[in-house]
Amino acid sequence: MSSEEALVLDPWGTSHVKDYDRLMKQFGIEPLTQELAKRLPYQHRLIRRRVIFGHRDLGNIIQAIENGNEYAVMTGIKPSGEFHLGTKLTSEEFIYFLSLSPRARGFFAIADLEAYADNKIPLEESYRIALSNLMDMLALGLDPKRVYVYRQSEEIPVLHLAFIFSRSVTYNTLEAIYGPRPFGLYLSALVQAGDILNPQLPHHGGPKPTLVPVGADQDPHIRLTRDLATKYSEEFGFVPPAATYHRLLRDLTGQEKMSKRNPMGILYLNEPLESAKAKVMNAFTGGRATAEEQRRLGGEPEKCVVFAELLSAHFLEDDKLLEEWYWDCKTGRILCGECKARAWEVIGSWLKAHQEKRSRMRDLADRLLKEKTLK
Ligand code: TRP
Ligand code: SF4
Repeated sequence: MSSEEALVLDPWGTSHVKDYDRLMKQFGIEPLTQELAKRLPYQHRLIRRRVIFGHRDLGNIIQAIENGNEYAVMTGIKPSGEFHLGTKLTSEEFIYFLSLSPRARGFFAIADLEAYADNKIPLEESYRIALSNLMDMLALGLDPKRVYVYRQSEEIPVLHLAFIFSRSVTYNTLEAIYGPRPFGLYLSALVQAGDILNPQLPHHGGPKPTLVPVGADQDPHIRLTRDLATKYSEEFGFVPPAATYHRLLRDLTGQEKMSKRNPMGILYLNEPLESAKAKVMNAFTGGRATAEEQRRLGGEPEKCVVFAELLSAHFLEDDKLLEEWYWDCKTGRILCGECKARAWEVIGSWLKAHQEKRSRMRDLADRLLKEKTLK
């Protein structure tokens, strides 16, 4: 194929995006401009640092915030394992967009059907993992009073929507979006469309702007759902969902594609501090071949996982400190060994505090999972 070959995003695989501008052009994702971001009540670290790079219809959500109108923030997590930096990202976005207005309502899908279809995880095991995941979300700051939590396998209205949508989606459409796939994954995609439009059903108050914060690889689902929302707008009054997109970050070893087969690459939020430390101290850096060279030329923070992923995207809130850190590296004032030890102080204390908070969340998570909503 030519260099103009169309990009295919694989929401179930390990997508890697080389060129975000091209991605946005091809699929019609809008860049998140400063002009739009300025209208947010405050800008989250992930927006300030450009981890969130694009959106669809975010303007509608901002308008709802400005006018004090109701909107939904919707996300789902496939309970296929413990929380790591990737799931942290989506959860932080969810919590952030929910915090921007007292009229925002959260909807959180536990994608146990998808976990079964994609990873063959039995539903009971999903429940156990979901409980643990929910403890992390609560520790990250999710307000349990503002969210509706459900399991796909038990949420009849969502399953009904998936069935209704199946009426107007042909095999050819699905194949064009996702490539040839087992029917279980196609079904999961329809269920996810049901998840995303669930907040707009009459028993949740009817049509409303709905924001779905996702990684770039989930865009195929967003496109499908926006299409379905339009197709069924007469019947249900659906507003096509808005979305924000974050970059797909590298793993700790610098691999573009995260893989569970590379355990040194993934930092889990509840892992023992000793092993977390070992992973940070082994992370891929932008250091030079020798200390002498690094003092002379400086390091390359842009290429460095410790700087770009761990500090900038995840753990260092303070913009001024981050900038100082950048120049310490860039000018060769600091070498990687010392730098990683400093970074570990920041990361380790974050993890320790998180793990303490999380350990107190079990009962609350359990209640939320059983009762779906707490008043
Ligand atoms: N497919 C998502 C994942 O793999 C999970 C998911 C299910 C989801 N339903 C959703 C994400 C609705 C956003 C909105 O993690
Ligand atoms: Fe990365 Fe720090 Fe080394 Fe710079 S000094 S390349 S920021 S580890």
